[in-house]
This record gives sequence, C-alpha cells and structure tokens, in this order.
Amino acid sequence: MSINQRRLFKEEFLQSAQKHFSGWFMDKLIVEGPCTLKGSVQISSAKNATLPILVATLLCPYPVTFDSIPELMDVGTILKLLQSMGVKVTKKGSQTIVDASHLDNQHADYALVKTMRASVLVLGPLLARYGVASVSLPGGCAIGARPVDIHLMGMEKLGAEIEIENGYIKAHCKKLKGATITLPFPSVGATENLIMAAVLAEGTTIIENAAMEPEIDDLADFLIAQGVKIEGAGTSHITVHGMDIKQLKSPAKPYRVIGDRIEAATFIIAAIMSKGEVRVEGFNPKHLTYVLETLIKMGASLEVGEDFVLVKKSQRLKGAIIETAPYPGFPTDVQAQMMALMSVVEGNSVVTETIFENRFMHVPEMGRMGSKVTLKGNSALIEGVEDLSGAPVMCTDLRASAALILCALIASGESEIQRVYHLDRGYEKIDEKLTKLGAKIKRVKG
Ligand code: UD1
Repeated sequence: MSINQRRLFKEEFLQSAQKHFSGWFMDKLIVEGPCTLKGSVQISSAKNATLPILVATLLCPYPVTFDSIPELMDVGTILKLLQSMGVKVTKKGSQTIVDASHLDNQHADYALVKTMRASVLVLGPLLARYGVASVSLPGGCAIGARPVDIHLMGMEKLGAEIEIENGYIKAHCKKLKGATITLPFPSVGATENLIMAAVLAEGTTIIENAAMEPEIDDLADFLIAQGVKIEGAGTSHITVHGMDIKQLKSPAKPYRVIGDRIEAATFIIAAIMSKGEVRVEGFNPKHLTYVLETLIKMGASLEVGEDFVLVKKSQRLKGAIIETAPYPGFPTDVQAQMMALMSVVEGNSVVTETIFENRFMHVPEMGRMGSKVTLKGNSALIEGVEDLSGAPVMCTDLRASAALILCALIASGESEIQRVYHLDRGYEKIDEKLTKLGAKIKRVKG
C-alpha cells in the first residue's frame, strides 16, 4: 500500500468509524432502579479470545470461518485493522469469513492501534509470515501505562531486530528461529503474540512463565485446528513446534470462540446484587472458579453446572478480602464489578489491585451513588451500605462502566450513565440483555 493509499484508508476508516460508532460515542443509558433480575441470559463469545484469534488468521493463507463473532466495538476495530492490511472480511448470517490469503502491507497504523491496545498482537504473526512489521506503539490507556517491553523482548529472542522509530515498532528478520523465552511477568498479550510468532518460526519455541488465561488456551485450540502443534497452553510452560506455512490446513468446521467469563461474572454479580434468580449460560464456569468460590464464601447461593451458573435468591452477602492476580487468581477484569457488590454487603471488604496501577476510576463515580470506599495506594476499603441512590455518572473504562451499571440497577431512582461507548467496547447488547431480565434501561442515542 502506498503512503497515499494508506492516508486515504486512514481517512476512510475514521469517517466510517465516526458514522458507525457516532451513536455509541454519545449514547447514554438511563437506568430506573431498583430492580430484581429474573430469567436466563446467554453469554456472548469472549472478547479477549476473539481479538487474538482474529489476529491469528494473519498466519493462515486461506479463508477462515467463524461462528457468532460478538458485535463489539473492539471486534470492529480489529477487523478494520486487518482489512487495512488487505484481509477480506465477509459476513454470512451469523458467520464471519476472514481471508488473509493475500496481504498488501504489514503496517498497523497509529489511528487504529491507539484506540485498542490488542492491535499490537499483529506484530508476531506479521513478523513470522513476512519477516517485517511496522506497528504503532499502543501507548498508555486510562487504567495504566501498559508497556509492550515483554512482547519485544520475546520477539528479539526469536531473532527479530527491533527499533522504535517515530512512535512505531519497526521489526524485521530473515526467518524467526525457535527459542526458550522466560517471561518476567505472565503477560496475556505477550504470551499470545509469542505463540503466534512461534507458529511459523524454524524449530521449537518454549515459553516459560506463560500466562494461563483460558483465552490463551482458546487461541491455542484455534491454531491446533489449523494443524499447528502446541502443547501446554493453559499452563505456565507452553511449547510451540514451528512449521512451514504450507503445512497449515483449513479446518472443515467453522471456529466458535469460548463464552466470555468476564461477561458471565458481570451478570452473576448483577443477579446477586438485585436479589434475583438468573441462569447465566453459554460459558465454562471452571474459568471463573476463583470468583465463584469467593461469591459462595460471601454467602451467594449458586448452582454451578457444566456450562451455566444458576444464581438463586440469597440473603445480604458478607464482606470479603480479595487481591487481583494473573489466572487462576482473581481476575482484574472482575475487580470493579466485585467492588460494586461489596458496596452493598454487610460489613467491610478490602480489594487490592496488583495488575494495573490505575484501576480504581469507578470509585469516585460509585461514590456519587452512595458507596463508601476509601483508597490507599493499590488497595480499597469498602464499607458496605444498605442502599444506593441513582445519580448521573460517567464511564471511564470498560469494566468501571460495568460496575456503574450494576450499582444503577439496584440504586433507588434514576441514574444517567454517560460515555456508554466504553461499555460497548466489550459487552454485546448489555442493555438489551438486562432489559430481558427485567431491568428498566433506556438507551438515549447521542
Ligand atoms: C489482557 C486483557 C485485559 C486484562 C489483562 C490482564 C485482552 C485483549 N485484554 O490485557 O482485559 O485486564 O489481560 O488480565 O486480552 N505489561 C508490561 N509489559 C508488557 C506487557 C504487559 O509491563 O510487555 C504489564 C501491563 O502494563 C499490565 C500487566 O503487565 O500492568 C498485565 O498486562 P497483560 O497481561 O499483558 O494484559 P493485556 O494483554 O494488555
């Protein structure tokens, strides 16, 4: 793609994104509480698995078919990024076909990367397949600085030469070579990037202290379905046997991404907070073991099945002490929602955030609804109150927004939740799903 074509693409992308998402950017949710949720809700495919798996199609020289890709802003962004490189994306009913047979450039532009950090995942597959990649540095985001040093260290171990120039990661290599890489921290994104890079490397790659999140396991399952040999995904020791691109083979069946454990946790907590009875289905409860055990210890009444959790009506829960940690520990992505619940339990709770340095932005907004939280460093002391009251509040990031909607559901009176686009990045039709369960939510288009 020439510089002019690239500029044109960028302008077209920004215009179409503005047109497509303009509603989302300005939309507000008006929630009338309190409500008691009842019924069943189907969980969508996991955002955090869908993003790396869509990126992994960059390794495949044939069209790949997916079932039920979730309609999320972040998924739209990653598809646009892939399209900017020449990938063809076709929708057929509930199926999405992603064809990366021919790419015309290996450049990930700032305009697309800055809106979503996961875009940096294209680095590994591009380097592995083409020996060259130019990817904008994602920069910080609201919840923390979020550097990519571990991704780059790993790529260098595989033989890539990397320079940072004008805000871009410029990487090249003749051919990546398998290596043993020990991660200083089990970064989810770095583990995914390195797995993808290792697929087309020469020889075997071992990733030590790898992240163990279920979404990594799903990425490995997707690659295994293409004929890749991977062992140990879901553990801290992952082995990827490099292969030639010609050995990859198109699977007969469309791929379906796992259910979203974070969305499921959000609905489970919503049901508990509203003292309701809700069957949350279409995900693997084993992916939420720590969260479910914590909720049960706090007094929640849960029936846990193979692919569902039934929340039964329970008395007011008790406080707890939690600390976020890499999987299988308590997920940072459920911390804000848990704090919403802790705001209305009996007694005090303590939450310590160890993954991101600035992930308490929901606290002042929740305070506007009557929650009592005191922050000290990376810990929060939450004093349970009897009731919350509706208020105008503003979303600051994805999971903080989820916490606000949970509080609004049980607060008495009206809450106006602004900047809903944060929520739309990662929750498919959350307002429609909650309305079906009996919540009174109105989306006011911007
Ligand atoms: C992924 C999830 C995100 C989740 C997070 C932690 C996706 C799309 N996003 O994000 O929802 O909250 O895992 O479970 O899957 N770090 C470095 N250097 C690096 C990489 C990471 O210092 O090279 C730090 C980050 O700044 C952060 C911590 O490590 O403080 C965790 O990051 P990481 O596990 O990489 O999370 P993401 O993949 O960005």
